[in-house]
Amino acid sequence: MNDIQSQFVKKILNGAQTMPKEKGVAFAPSNIALCKYWGKRDAALNLPVNSSLSISLGDLGTRTEIRCIDVEQASLPAQGQAGMPAPQGIPDMVYLNGELQPVNSSFAKRISSFLDLFRPMFGNAHFEVRTENTIPTAAGLASSASGFAALVMALDDLAGWGLDKKRRSMLARLGSGSAARSIFDGFVQWNAGTNPAGTDSFAEKIDNEWPEFRIGILELSSAPKPVGSRDGMNRTVATSELYKSWPQQAAADLETIRATIDARDFALLGKTAERNALAMHATMLAAWPPLIYLQPETIEQIHKVQRVRAEGLEVYLTIDAGPNIKLLFLEENEAAVTTAFPGLQTIKPFG
Ligand code: PMV
Repeated sequence: MNDIQSQFVKKILNGAQTMPKEKGVAFAPSNIALCKYWGKRDAALNLPVNSSLSISLGDLGTRTEIRCIDVEQASLPAQGQAGMPAPQGIPDMVYLNGELQPVNSSFAKRISSFLDLFRPMFGNAHFEVRTENTIPTAAGLASSASGFAALVMALDDLAGWGLDKKRRSMLARLGSGSAARSIFDGFVQWNAGTNPAGTDSFAEKIDNEWPEFRIGILELSSAPKPVGSRDGMNRTVATSELYKSWPQQAAADLETIRATIDARDFALLGKTAERNALAMHATMLAAWPPLIYLQPETIEQIHKVQRVRAEGLEVYLTIDAGPNIKLLFLEENEAAVTTAFPGLQTIKPFG
């Protein structure tokens, strides 16, 4: 984390008083983008090239508890790695699903370096963070999005800043771009903004519920990704000729998807979301070295979705920076989709 980010956090907190309680608690949902965020216009402030639109996953996400601890307590051997000096800046105790994470784990390091941005407001305290994912980690959905959104909300609860959702969204964005959207339920739009200072790049709720909307998770591989989304985006923006057409396509897709939500035009929504995801993967394939998140099983299932759709079943897909597929369909087709795709985990985003 760097000075630019620290300055940004100070600006967003705008002098709010920190009056720590015993602990802060929050829940944030995971989200899946129907119009993807791909590419940064500013790496330090995590500002996106394009606006994106997602759907939050109801009660599937991350629940986080945070409390201040003193340094002595935090450096007890419980941190593991006996005999190894703790890397600078990580005397925090970070638990994931009840297990203390080693200080050298990428999970603990990422959380701790995000907390560095807020530490001065707590008298440079260290923190105990307990993170529980209410979505099976293996489903490939326990993303950083719900994690950083829940962390910011829990910090706000701990400190008593009383931040509005817009400010929470901008702070969560610093941890992970898609976390900006996980502050809200339902359909959410993250406006890219144009301001270099990053104060107009935050998510907003789209006030429109669609109770019949269903998302199916096809878990095809739980192997860790070879390239994270941050590096993947940077590589694509820097080397992919096809990326040049992405901002324009994303803008058009976002407008179309918004209109389909108002019009309840599921067929057009599904088609636009599927094409948007595959176009994003096309920009990655055209990068160098090529970025291929799609595995053989992913390709097989893409063909299967096309086949069942040709047979009359209204089902569409979307894919993020990984091999797993998310199916989009309506309640009326739930039984048929589950029969066609055994083992599907179905989510009702509107409860
Ligand atoms: O939030 P990040 O940095 O993990 O990036 C998310 C990128 C995609 O999942 C591929 C698209 C999106 O909009 O969620």
